Order: sequence, then C-alpha cells, then structure tokens
Amino acid sequence: MFFKTLSEGKTYFNSLKARVRGMTVQTPSKADILIDIIKSRRTIRSFEDREVPKEVIERILEVARWSPSGSNAQEWRFVVVTDKKLLKALRMFSPGWLGEAPVVIAVCADREWAYKVAGKLGRDRMYLIDSGIVIQSIVLLAHALGLGTNIIASFSPEAIRELLNIPDSWDVVALIAMGYPKEVPKAPPRLPLDKLVIWR
Ligand SMILES: Cc1cc2nc3c(=O)[nH]c(=O)nc-3n(C[C@H](O)[C@H](O)[C@H](O)COP(=O)(O)O)c2cc1C
Repeated sequence: MFFKTLSEGKTYFNSLKARVRGMTVQTPSKADILIDIIKSRRTIRSFEDREVPKEVIERILEVARWSPSGSNAQEWRFVVVTDKKLLKALRMFSPGWLGEAPVVIAVCADREWAYKVAGKLGRDRMYLIDSGIVIQSIVLLAHALGLGTNIIASFSPEAIRELLNIPDSWDVVALIAMGYPKEVPKAPPRLPLDKLVIWR
C-alpha cells in the first residue's frame, strides 16, 4: 500500500476502521441459541451405521441429571443399551421403533424412591412429569451435540424389563433411540398458539 500524503493514508485507515466496525459479528444470545436448539430438533428415524462414543452419552446424562424434578426426587434411572444383540431384541418388543439406532436409553422411574421422597404424589403422578422433563433435556442435549433421537412410547414394558434385567421398582417410561442422523425430516406442523392458550 502506497500513499502520496500523510492525510491520504489517514483517510484510508479511518475508512478501513469504519468498515471493520460495520462487520462486527453479533454473538447470538443464550435465548437465540436455546430457541434454535428447541425448534430445529427433529425426531430421527434413520441413523448412520456409526457408534456413539461412551463419553458423549455420559456427557448427555451428566447434564440431564440437572433437570428439575418434583421435591428434587430425581427418581429417573437410565439403562443405556449399546450391545447389538440386545438392541435387536429390544426392537422386537417396540413396534413404534423405526431405524437402526446404535444406542437406546431406557428412561425409567424408580417409583419406590419417588414415594420415599415425595409421597403418593411423587409415586403416582410426578414421576411421569419428571421423566418427560429429563427426556426433553436428553434429546435437546443430543441434538446440540449433533446426534438424533427418537422418543418411543409404544413397547412392552414387561418384556423390556425382563430383557434388560431392570429392577422391579423401576417403571420403564420411554425408550430413546439415539445415533448420528442419516436423514433429517421436515418439521411436522404445530398447532397455532391461539388453539393452545386461554387467558384469564
Ligand atoms: C411420548 C412420545 C412418544 C413417541 N412415540 C413414538 C414412536 O413410538 N415412534 C415414532 O416413530 N415416533 C414417536 N414419537 C415421535 C413423535 O412422533 C414426534 O415427536 C412428533 O411427530 C413431532 O415431530 P418432531 O419430534 O420431529 O418435532 C414419540 C414422541 C413422544 C414425545
């Protein structure tokens, strides 16, 4: 770069500074990031034939356990299945499950524990709310880490309890199939807010 006069150089550098200021990249707010994670998550029904590292699964569950629960009971329990034979057997008892996921997390609730900590309300009702919350934490974290998930509710709980040797006091609430997505489907439509909300 060559300038004939000092003032020519100053003008050039001032205009350069102004341009760089104009290019300032806005860092997204926490809310922007959360909104994007919630809205871009999709149910994944086709997965790559690729293992999910154990550390990634552990990281997800480590964070998910910070979810809220009624009376802080934390009655959620997780059975992580990666064994191929068990995965195949699991699929036979889960008609709602599509796609060959390399990981399944059986999300359970220890209802005896919930009763000890939160009484009848914990054992009979809050365990389902708590499970739903921790499931959402898991699927959002998985999505943020590049994984896809499918929450599955149609399965035979007794068959799955037996297959995975799950303690009697644990209810199997849902299965989460997890893996690297092969295809990401379009978002199914959502009901408009005015159909969902009444104001009083
Ligand atoms: C409690 C629950 C049970 C579900 N069960 C199944 C299932 O058995 N099989 C399946 O393919 N998807 C299942 N899904 C996924 C839903 O079909 C899916 O969340 C819904 O169509 C919205 O799509 P999206 O998750 O991509 O936004 C289930 C989701 C939830 C929350």
